[in-house]
Amino acid sequence: MCLGNICRSPTAEGVFRKLVTEHDLGHGVIADSAGTHAYHIDEPPDMRAQHAAAKRGIDLSSIRGRKATTEDIRDFDYILAMDWENYHNLLHMAGDLSDRENIRLLLQYSEKFDEEEVPDPYYGGAKGFERVLDMIEDASLGLLADIKRRYSL
Ligand code: 4NP
Repeated sequence: MCLGNICRSPTAEGVFRKLVTEHDLGHGVIADSAGTHAYHIDEPPDMRAQHAAAKRGIDLSSIRGRKATTEDIRDFDYILAMDWENYHNLLHMAGDLSDRENIRLLLQYSEKFDEEEVPDPYYGGAKGFERVLDMIEDASLGLLADIKRRYSL
């Protein structure tokens, strides 16, 4: 989950899907991305995000922007926010839902990065998109390990 669903969260969706497929868990784990704002509904990911991901063998071209829903929060076991702003947007959307504890920061699963937030690369240059990928790749490894432990996969 990010703000626009055109930079960080589609990148995370692509990275995590690839990882899950490499671990033969493609049928058991469903990963999807969404934004907490509606600016870019139905748009493909930002071309800078697509290019950066393509260099690492990840195709984001078929992803389309959508806005997060309360059903997402109810149905998914992990709701992973890229930064505190999105985390709070999601908590607000969840209201009284009992599964608010599903909402976490993605980078809590990262070992290599001490930061809490994946920085918004939208107004920066290509380097920002590489850093987003580095952070998301590392956090995805930790996330997959957590899922494997939790569900004995
Ligand atoms: P994202 O990046 O939240 O990583 O998809 C952004 C994309 C668009 C905007 C902000 C952040 N925007 O302001 O349009």
